Amino acid sequence: MDEITIAIQAAQEAGALALRRFRQPQEIRHKGPADPVTQADQEAEELIVHTIQRVFPYHEFLGEEGHEAPADAEHLWVIDPIDGTRNYAHGVPFFCTSIALARYGQPVLGVIYDPTLKETFHAEAGKGAFLNGQPIHVSRKTELEDAILSLSLVPARQVVNAHVALPMLVRLQPLVESVRIMGSAALHLAYTACGRFDVGFQDTVHAWDVLAGVLLVQEAGGIVTDLMGQPVSTSAHDCIVANNVSFHDAVLRAAREVAAGRKS
Ligand code: IPD
Ligand code: CA
Ligand code: CA
Repeated sequence: MDEITIAIQAAQEAGALALRRFRQPQEIRHKGPADPVTQADQEAEELIVHTIQRVFPYHEFLGEEGHEAPADAEHLWVIDPIDGTRNYAHGVPFFCTSIALARYGQPVLGVIYDPTLKETFHAEAGKGAFLNGQPIHVSRKTELEDAILSLSLVPARQVVNAHVALPMLVRLQPLVESVRIMGSAALHLAYTACGRFDVGFQDTVHAWDVLAGVLLVQEAGGIVTDLMGQPVSTSAHDCIVANNVSFHDAVLRAAREVAAGRKS
């Protein structure tokens, strides 16, 4: 079995597991402030790792719920078993499973599965991006005032990156049609890849939140960088996604204004 086939299978099985337990009583622990983890998060990560390991026993795994490996490994699977855990734990049906494979830090495939809508997004480097097997493309919008901007905030009380997203929201909200903060960075990126959203800033902390989505957006014709305008790799801390250069520049400009404001 090839890598993309097993990645899609693992994502769909993990998503199905999450959906079976959705809105059912289950144990919720807290890993830290505002950082819940459900039994389903943990079981889904185990399921994904075992499914892939059976086929690729020498590959390595970096997963939100405990798997650790060097970020620059030759074959590194980067897993978020449930992205949108806070939605999931509160009964809000906006969450997904996200799996990327990176080689020496660079994503080569990405799969995002939304079990609620049964939507499977996948991309392989150089081969395009797909939703349920059909090719997808970023939106063709050219006016920022028509754009939907998606934003991910660092979870409450986890002070990383000094909450760049909030001052950026203040700068960008008047320029766009609407802002969406839907609680799943991976789905924000998948939605950008298929043209539902147009531009976004994901102030995330870990590669598992964004890596599969980064490749999806790039393979769908969009642009992704970090806040400094550099490529996003397994050491991701944040990312700007856009359907075109001018939307990307608008977000980058806002980021620079925020940074300049902090220094003055
Ligand atoms: C979170 C989501 C959210 C983002 C957070 C992430 P989780 O992931 O992607 O959109 O704002 O920074 O931690 O915890 O639901 O897997
Ligand atoms: Ca996540
Ligand atoms: Ca998660």
